[in-house]
Amino acid sequence: MEHAQFYEELYGKLVALIGNERDWVANLANAAALLWEELPRINWVGFYILKGEELVLGPFQGRPACIRIGMGKGVCGQTALLRKSHVVPDVHEFPGHIACDPISRSEVVVPIEKDGQLLGVLDVDSPELARFSEADGAGLEKVANFLAERCDWA
Ligand code: SME
Repeated sequence: MEHAQFYEELYGKLVALIGNERDWVANLANAAALLWEELPRINWVGFYILKGEELVLGPFQGRPACIRIGMGKGVCGQTALLRKSHVVPDVHEFPGHIACDPISRSEVVVPIEKDGQLLGVLDVDSPELARFSEADGAGLEKVANFLAERCDWA
């Protein structure tokens, strides 16, 4: 299936799943579960939430992961610092990459922002080299933007 069609269908499923719910924990938990079911060839998907000056582990699917990530640290920290999506074809080539699970080989991280404020990041890891393309980044940005708008971030 083409990326555009895949992400369009995924987006439709997400919209249906979230419905009118606005609780951020419930919505991110369900979003992580949906992405885990739908995205092939991944070993981790989840959220890190900005709390003070660091990112703290949020709802996710996959193996237990690093709990706190400093601004600028690893792919997640760089994404948060620069507020720019990162598609990393080989995590071993990324300076400062944080290896929560040594089987991860490629990664995509997108920022979650609302009204110019950073709320957190969405991180997806794969055991396969170069699993993600810019199209995955774009599709996941749409997911992140939807969640940013549709949750109350208490
Ligand atoms: N590899 C990430 C850390 C988070 S885990 O992969 C779940 C990073 O370098 O930011």
